[in-house]
Amino acid sequence: MIIVFIFCKKQYIWHLITINQYYSMSIMRVKPISAFEADMKKSDLKRVLGKWSLTAIGVGAIIGGGIFVLTGTGAYYHAGPALAISFIIAGIACVFAALCYSEFASILPVEGSAYAYAYGTIGEIFAWIIGWGLILEYAMGSMTVAVSWSGYFNKLLKLFHIKLPDWLTTDPASYTGEGFSMNLPAFLIVILVISLLIKGTKSAAKANNAIVILKVSAVIFVIVAGLFFINTANWSPFIPEATQIIEKETTHNAYGIGGIISGAAAIFFAYVGFDAVSTQAGEAINPKKDVPFAIIASLLICTTLYILVSLVLTGMMNYQDFNPLGKYPEAIKAPVAYAFDIAGQSWAGSIITIAATIGLVSVLMVMIMGQSRIFLGMSKDGLIPQVFSKVNPISGTPKTNLMILGGIIATVAAFTPINKLADMTSFGTLFAFTMVCIAVWILRVKQPGLNRTFRVPALPVIAVLGIAINSYLIFNLSLDAQLLSFGWLIIGILVYFLYSKKRSKLNNTTEE
Ligand code: ALA
Repeated sequence: MIIVFIFCKKQYIWHLITINQYYSMSIMRVKPISAFEADMKKSDLKRVLGKWSLTAIGVGAIIGGGIFVLTGTGAYYHAGPALAISFIIAGIACVFAALCYSEFASILPVEGSAYAYAYGTIGEIFAWIIGWGLILEYAMGSMTVAVSWSGYFNKLLKLFHIKLPDWLTTDPASYTGEGFSMNLPAFLIVILVISLLIKGTKSAAKANNAIVILKVSAVIFVIVAGLFFINTANWSPFIPEATQIIEKETTHNAYGIGGIISGAAAIFFAYVGFDAVSTQAGEAINPKKDVPFAIIASLLICTTLYILVSLVLTGMMNYQDFNPLGKYPEAIKAPVAYAFDIAGQSWAGSIITIAATIGLVSVLMVMIMGQSRIFLGMSKDGLIPQVFSKVNPISGTPKTNLMILGGIIATVAAFTPINKLADMTSFGTLFAFTMVCIAVWILRVKQPGLNRTFRVPALPVIAVLGIAINSYLIFNLSLDAQLLSFGWLIIGILVYFLYSKKRSKLNNTTEE
């Protein structure tokens, strides 16, 4: 029995309803697992992805600019040399979520990821909100990644003494000159990625595999080369005493245990992406086994690399030298490259620039692919227009869906200062992780007998820890990101009630 507060013809009344009544309320309707299975059988997507291609998709999405850029901020404003512990904490938060994603993927190997998992367990309104939140992770993430790609591309051109005019590399809001301006490289890279994705998942996966090998080699190279320039005195004290950094009019609580935890939130963006593997379940050859494997394998590979990079970086350069008001004011913007510069090895900076420029293409590719598959799932369920679920019979890809998405992502990346909102991507991701941890637990209780090829060990404990850490990290994101993201979710609720609720395919099968 639960108690609900109902507004009824100018009267507010408390009302007792049974759990059954609650679940039959239309916004709480749950899509039966059998309906997912029927959808899977009808799917026009081609099953072309094996275990290692899926793992490469995970690594392709995770390793991007984050590790090369956020480490300086994490070390100076948050954790000091203990940045590696921040990476471990963020990695653990992801591992808990990854285990829960894996159990779901073993039951429901469908393209909708966290959205679909929630639809099969907690109910339509939650599924919708998660799907809406995932737009922050995937579509908005793609926009910010396109803009960072443009930044790296310009640096790459500089290595060859080429400089594009500012009006061609800056969005109109950030442009200080007169007349027209746009971020052309950001626009073009999205179009290029979209054309690759439209051609077919198999060819896109091949390109991704090659990029992943290249970027992982570059990261390993940076770690090994950096080992020669470590000064162990920089690691002492490993956890600096908690203090406040006062800068202009802002006060930051830094270091100590609190700093390590806020550091985990600050660098979380570097982990965003591994869940994209679950959006490819509809194209996996053996999804029930290979998707869980790929989610966990890609996360473990990247966590190990990230811990090593952060140890090497804080060993090469004292964390206090990342102070933007100190003797190296530029260091915080490109910490890894800068650490090598200071060690007199500026060639490493060039390697990082090349690796990030090529590596970000695969982040973009996987994120756009992930968003298109989530829209495909939502569209099949009737919650967004049908045009998003049309699959081209020749390429086996959702062509129109990709073209609409590409148009929007390219335009926003080229004409707005979207990269200032990058933290909202972490919000969308952490929100989905939290909900997946809740949903996996609910499904275990509601349907314990389902065939699960992967089971989360010690489930209530892992789910509760996952919920706790991921929601804690949400509240450690910047206040602006939290407020804007909540605003975005509220818009989502409005769209649901004005558009999606009545168009839901379950409308025909569920009592209103
Ligand atoms: N994790 C990805 C990056 O760091 C999004 O760029």
